[in-house]
This record gives sequence, structure tokens and C-alpha cells, in this order.
Amino acid sequence: MKDKLAELREMRAKAKLGGGQSRIDDQHAKGKLTARERLDLLLDSGTFQELGRLATHNQSDFGMAEKKFPGDGVVTGFGKIDGRRVAVYAQDFTILGGSFSEVQSHKVCKIMELAMESGIPVIGLLDSGGARIQEGVRSLAAYGELFVRNVMASGVIPQISVQMGPCAGGAVYSPALTDFIVMVRKTSYMFITGPDVIRAVTGEQVDFDTLGGAAAHNVNSGVAHFAADDELAACRLVKELLAYLPQNNSEDPPRVTPYDDPARQDASLDHLVPEDSSQPYDMRQVISSVFDRGSFLEVHAHYARNALVGLARLDGFPVGVVANQPMHLAGVLDIDSSDKIARFVRFCDAFNLPIITLVDTPGYMPGVAQEHGGIIRHGAKVIYAYCEATVPKISVVVRKAMGGAYIAMSSKQMRTDLAYAWPSAEIAVMGPEGAINILYREELRKSADPATRRRELLQDYVDRFHNPYSAADMGQIDEIIEPSSTRLRLINALEVLRSKVTSNPAKKHGVMPV
Ligand code: HXC
Repeated sequence: MKDKLAELREMRAKAKLGGGQSRIDDQHAKGKLTARERLDLLLDSGTFQELGRLATHNQSDFGMAEKKFPGDGVVTGFGKIDGRRVAVYAQDFTILGGSFSEVQSHKVCKIMELAMESGIPVIGLLDSGGARIQEGVRSLAAYGELFVRNVMASGVIPQISVQMGPCAGGAVYSPALTDFIVMVRKTSYMFITGPDVIRAVTGEQVDFDTLGGAAAHNVNSGVAHFAADDELAACRLVKELLAYLPQNNSEDPPRVTPYDDPARQDASLDHLVPEDSSQPYDMRQVISSVFDRGSFLEVHAHYARNALVGLARLDGFPVGVVANQPMHLAGVLDIDSSDKIARFVRFCDAFNLPIITLVDTPGYMPGVAQEHGGIIRHGAKVIYAYCEATVPKISVVVRKAMGGAYIAMSSKQMRTDLAYAWPSAEIAVMGPEGAINILYREELRKSADPATRRRELLQDYVDRFHNPYSAADMGQIDEIIEPSSTRLRLINALEVLRSKVTSNPAKKHGVMPV
């Protein structure tokens, strides 16, 4: 037995070295940590329980008999983050570039299945060249096994992917099926295939960073939700994110001990919205004032900046925040911001996070590029997501709520529970200029003094619609509130709605515009 124990210890120690010391040195030289070092950063100390440490592949062709490494390029198991259970896997680039094999798939799928059964989040730390080329169709099928589990787990347990190296093929498609993607600046890349293959196939010359770096996917494609400066920051972000989320879809998100006065009023909100409604202001100021101090964790911060989405707390309870941002493109709803909002609303609904919507949008973005790009289809996602969501929904019209965007952005007809408005709200089918041009074109053409008549008509329109009173009169707005009291109103409303029960008609699933 003594010998057997020594043998086991030796094998376990070898497994700890992954692809060997020189590969570990290479990894460090690239500014990256090893899979085990990453897990140490992520998990509460001493909580990691590893599974499958000694698993290896059985392949002998392509010289693979000499390339057997215990663990086969992924470290899997369970641990705790801030005392809460999580399932984790970390790919090991030092072993065959972290390439995904049949054995990797068995290991990752095993922890995913246990995580689903026990209702605990799954976190993947990815650093992989994708399907292991030497395994052919077996590694492709292995990815298929992972994808189907990603999809089955979607909306049941939170799934977070952290990209920590060059990730290709399945190492980007699996994350794309999860809830959040965090990328590490300068060392992580995501692409379906790398610059070499692109050069061969399309002739395009592109470097790793331009093709698939953190900026490419946080700013341009919207594939990633967060960019972290380094691996430590990425792990911290995952912990911060998890603190807002329930363990699974049958739990409520965890409340933290309240630390901010629920009745706190911020008088500056009463003067934040400029008199001139074409002037911008920063919706972030509203968010940081209304929600618990410092609690806003912005998601997709660099993508489609005309919308803001993120997690925050009200009196310690986590909520999802959706807002238009007048600082960018006047807060218009375009293709990208529609995608951003719709996805986030669906996430919140899946995981029991009440949705607070702050509205200031001149409408859906007009233009040929938007129409041909499918603004109809993408814009419809916002309507679909809000209508379908059964979590508590509260909206506050801060300023403009024009046209279709008024309806889409959590109007009462989207099954919003409570609709508030600030006195600065403007709710109309369209802005004054456009409306007057359509309604009074003939009259203005015939008028002896068109400029004066135009001014009169504009003033009349503004008097009617540049306030929330006719909407309140018709019951479309439940209450017009003083901006400085917004925090308390939301906290009180959420207290009422906390036990809300509603459902959708029985169906297999709807056909969401995608
Ligand atoms: C087997 C792989 C591999 C792979 C990398 N390696 N990718 N081995 N299968 N897919 C090995 C390399 O041979 C090398 O081994 C080691 O990992 C490190 O790789 P390098 O190329 O030296 O590293 P680097 O220069 O940092 O480049 C990393 C990389 C590049 C960008 C990931 O390796 C690459 O382009 N790999 C292929 C990416 C790809 O096109 N994958 C698509 C898979 S298809 P040695 O022993 O020489 O050091 C797929 C389908 C999924 O995933 C289905 C989707 C729907």
C-alpha cells in the first residue's frame, strides 16, 4: 500500500505540471498563468475538489502516444466563491494548446451535469486552440456534447466564460452559448479561426488583436461582455458578477446587508435634465444616484453605448438596470443597442432579477443602413423580451419616450407592472419638427407667414406632448414622481412586487426574432 500511495502521489504531482516546466515557463513568458494558478485566484482557498486529474487520451496515431499528459489539457472540479458552490473548468494551454479532446469533453460535461443537478453555476476558464486536430471527428463530436449541455443549462444555472488565451473554434462557440464572456486585455483572443487560416482562405492580413482581441469583441462585435486588464482582475470580476446572481433559476438573487439609506434623496436629480431637450446629460448619473451606492456593475459597457445595461442593488436586493444613454447618439435604439437590451432583459428574466428601465430615447434609428441591416428584426427583440419577461418590471420615463421606442422600452403594454415618469418626460409618436412637417405641410405651404405659423404649431405640440401629463391622464403612466424621490419609489415598489406571480401561456417556446 505504501508503494501504491507513493505512486499515486507521484502521478498527481506530475499532473500538476501539465505539459511540463518549459511549457509553464512559456505560458508565464506570455503573461499568462497556468490553469491551476488561475483556479487558485478564482476559488476560496482550499475549496477546490478536482475530478479526472489522471485522465488521458487513448490515441496513438499522429505521434500522440508520446503526447499523453494526465488531465489531458483541462482541470475540472468544484469549489467555492465567497462561500457559494461553483463548478469550474480551466483549460491548460501547456498541454497540446489546451485543444479540446474527447477526454476533455467527458470531464467538462461531467461537472456540467452535476452542476445542473445540484443547481450551481459553471465557470469556464478558456485557453484553447479549439477542437484537437489529431482526433478528427471525435473532437468535433466532443464539442457537440459540450454545446448541447451549454444549451440545456442555459437559463437553469448561470454560465460564465473567461477567455484567458488565444481561443479558437469551439473554444469561442461554447462561450457564445453561455451568459457572460469576460476577456483579458492583451492576452486573450477569440476567433472561429486564426490569422494564418484567414490569410490562406481570404487573403486578408490581420493580427491577433485586431481580429479577435478584447477591444474587437467588447467594442465592435459585442461577443464579449467585459474586458479585464489582467487575469487577476478577470477573476475578481467573476466573483463580483456572481454576487448578484442566484445559484440557479429556482432561487432568488442573494440580498446583501443594506448599506445605503433607502430614503436617501439626491436633490441634484431635480436639475439634471436640461431645459433644452436636445441637450444631452449622463444617464449614469441617474443610475449612480438612484441605486445603492457603488452597486452598478455595467455589462457590455463598451458596446452600443447608446444603451446602458447592468446589475445593481436597491436596498441590498439585486436588480437588472436597462437605460438609454442620451450621451451617445441621443440614446437612440439601433440594431446593436436593441440586441444588447433584449439579451440582458432575457437574462434577468431567466434568473429572477427584477428589471428597472430608465427611458430617454428619441426612437428607433432611421436610415437605410439600419433598415437594410434589419432594425425591424433586431428592434422587435426588445419588444419580445420585455413582453415575455415575468419578473417585476418598473419603468421610469426620464425624458424622451418617442414612437415605437416608447412602447418597446417597458411601456405598460409590455406587461410592465409600474410606469413612472419624471416631470421632464416627453411622450409622443415623434418629435415636434417631424410631426409638424407631416401634419401641417399643406397649411404651412399656403401660409402668408410660414415661419410664425410653424413656431405656433411647434409650441402647441410641445405644450401637449413635452410633459407626461396626458400619458398620466390616460393611465399610461401610473405616477409622475419627483426625480429626487426615485430611489425610494423604486424600493417601495419592489417591496410590493417581490411576491409577484405571473406566467406565460403554455408552449414549447416562442419564436423570438433573432
Ligand atoms: C491540436 C493544437 C491546436 C489544435 C494549437 N495546438 N491548436 N493542437 N489541435 N486545435 C497546439 C500547437 O500545435 C502547439 O503545439 C501548441 O498547441 C501551441 O500552439 P501554437 O500555435 O504554438 O500557439 P500560438 O502561436 O499561441 O497560437 C495559438 C492558436 C493557434 C492561435 C490557438 O495554435 C491556432 O491557430 N490553432 C488552431 C486554431 C483553429 O483553427 N482551431 C479550430 C478548431 S475547429 P506544439 O507541440 O507544436 O507546441 C473547432 C470546431 C468546433 O474548434 C466547432 C465549432 C462549431
